[in-house]
Amino acid sequence: MSPGKRCTILGIESSCDETAASVVVDAREVKSNVIATQFELHEEYGGVVPEIASRAHIERILPVIREALVQAGIDEDEANERIDAIAVGHCPGLIGSLLVGVSAAKALAWAWGKPLIGVDHVMAHLYAGALDVDDPLRYPAIGLIVSGGHTTLCRVNDSLDVRVLGRTIDDAIGEAYDKAAMMLGLGFPGGRRVDERAQRGDDRKYDFPISRLGAESLDFSYSGLKTSLLYMVRGKPAGKGKERKFERDYDDLTEREVDDLCASFQRAAIGAVMLKLKRAIDSADGDGVKSLIVGGGVSANSRLRAEVRDLAKDRGLDLHLPAIEYCLDNGAMIAGLGGVKFARKEFDDLSLSPMPAGSLR
Ligand code: KG4
Ligand code: ZN
Repeated sequence: MSPGKRCTILGIESSCDETAASVVVDAREVKSNVIATQFELHEEYGGVVPEIASRAHIERILPVIREALVQAGIDEDEANERIDAIAVGHCPGLIGSLLVGVSAAKALAWAWGKPLIGVDHVMAHLYAGALDVDDPLRYPAIGLIVSGGHTTLCRVNDSLDVRVLGRTIDDAIGEAYDKAAMMLGLGFPGGRRVDERAQRGDDRKYDFPISRLGAESLDFSYSGLKTSLLYMVRGKPAGKGKERKFERDYDDLTEREVDDLCASFQRAAIGAVMLKLKRAIDSADGDGVKSLIVGGGVSANSRLRAEVRDLAKDRGLDLHLPAIEYCLDNGAMIAGLGGVKFARKEFDDLSLSPMPAGSLR
């Protein structure tokens, strides 16, 4: 690539249940962002079924990549001249799902003779706030990833230098939202629906526990909140195991009660995140932290967005909060962070393998 030429990256994402591809220029300008969701395939099971997810990725990956090229104004015949590298989310995630994206990326890199770049999905969520905005991310930062698979607090020294400060010891916050939605009969995935109903409810109506763990802990726990909601909705169970019987179910609730349960659940779920975020900022005091970076599907949540805005203002920190379309899993965040790695010539070879556990420590 000649000096001054802009870098155009194709990003591919298939770590869980979204098949996504995107073209991003100079690690910031999103030219296309195509996402094929699989909600309808997993809804009846109340969660993502790995085998169904990987099969659906196989069917969708090529049409999604083609559409991302078309929407970016790139003809398939000229793709090998217009695309400078192929970035792919290769970790963490479901092994069968990751394998589809990684195999497609390798095939294109080989066929087009372009560099292949493996990107960590969680680091990419922390980069999403840099997409389609003028201001670059400011480091060092405190980073928060809240999604269906992750609830993690980090020290972010640079987009590729991320150190974990705390993470969930049981469920991820998005998983707790999805289970709450199932318990309340709101369907799957339910995070957005719980958020919508919460906005109409009284958040003080029910008292749900806000997990603190130790006085200094930066870890999270959502299993207690989940159980507490279960008992609130269905009453105390009698009997054990298969014999366990509840007093009632969600269809005994009034619409008003559902709104109030959602609002009270949301106060506790987001309250726990804010508590740990404040602790992380306070314990990093004087350590040069300039900004707060938030990412992941739950960063689309209305209450979280409002509360992190207030917190950043209060602590005099810049806030990098992605536009809603870049909160949920997408290929643009992969292509964006891929662009940063491209500029640093951090390439992978065709031996790149999916890593379900991820690279963050
Ligand atoms: O980042 P993401 O697409 O997937 C993972 O990397 O896990 O996050 C998906 C999660 C789901 O659990 C979904 O219910 C949740 O994000 N979510 C929300 C909202 N929108 C999506 N949770 C709470 N409030 C929302 N508005
Ligand atoms: Zn994600």
